Amino acid sequence: MIWSLQAAADLTEKQFDQWSKLLEERAGICLSDQQRVFLQTQVSMRMRELGHTDYSQYYNRVVDGVSGMMEWSVLIDRLVVKETSFFRHKPSVESVRKHLQNRINNDTLDGAFEVWSVGCSSGEEPYSLSMVINDCFSLARRDPYYGVTATDISRAALTIARNGIYPQRKVEMLDPHVRQHYFTQLENGRYQIAPELKDRICFNHANVLNINEMPSAQLDVIFCQNLLIYFRRWLRHEIMNAFVERLKPGGILVVGLGEVVDWANPDVERVTKDEVQAYVRKAG
Ligand SMILES: C[S@@+](CC[C@H](N)C(=O)[O-])C[C@H]1O[C@@H](n2cnc3c(N)ncnc32)[C@H](O)[C@@H]1O
Repeated sequence: MIWSLQAAADLTEKQFDQWSKLLEERAGICLSDQQRVFLQTQVSMRMRELGHTDYSQYYNRVVDGVSGMMEWSVLIDRLVVKETSFFRHKPSVESVRKHLQNRINNDTLDGAFEVWSVGCSSGEEPYSLSMVINDCFSLARRDPYYGVTATDISRAALTIARNGIYPQRKVEMLDPHVRQHYFTQLENGRYQIAPELKDRICFNHANVLNINEMPSAQLDVIFCQNLLIYFRRWLRHEIMNAFVERLKPGGILVVGLGEVVDWANPDVERVTKDEVQAYVRKAG
């Protein structure tokens, strides 16, 4: 029987530990024992593409120097959960609209309105944020003066994000107003994001574990949803503290509801609202 038709061998306990340790060290993602089959399937599929039959041999290839790093960047794309959608958690996205509206109404905008979407996957999240931000500036009849930085560890997801073209199923659930205003339907039935939004977003490859190496630009909004959930509690807390350092006074940090518990930082206070987990940076 040729290898491509053979079922993958089961990962041994030791091999599972080795691979899951690597994933946690390099991406922060902590797999449970129940995810053994997932890990095995993804790793073995990639091995099959390369003609490897032995998990340990492939592991050695992945950890070996520069070529190993290149292989890792392909593999990591298979190991992350990239599920996302436009306005995935609507109350959180709307909290950004409300925040910006208040800032515009109270005339407290200080330079460009800067946003960071962390773990942006294929772009639906930063595009949704851009839509509400654009709406706010249009409503106030002001020039849209904002920028969104969107980062992810998956290069494949970032390619889709930069392309900004989505299948109909991703767009059909949106408000007709949003669809008409921010998308153009292409001849093949797919939908293309409006250039006015695309031009505002800078998509970058970045691992959130390296946050301390990133320039500490001062941001008005840090939006991080459905990412920290994969990390250990101490790591979530560490990253939250690093986020706070990157917020402007008055800026907000919006995380997935319930994704971070037992965390507090003296420089921020929780914006009281049950359905959104957001924190505002105190002045001065
Ligand atoms: C489930 S998606 C969430 C996408 C979007 N934030 C949302 O809520 O719809 C998680 C994303 O986090 C990314 N990710 C996982 N580990 C990461 C890391 N260490 N650094 C940066 N991005 C990471 C994945 O590639 C994936 O695109």
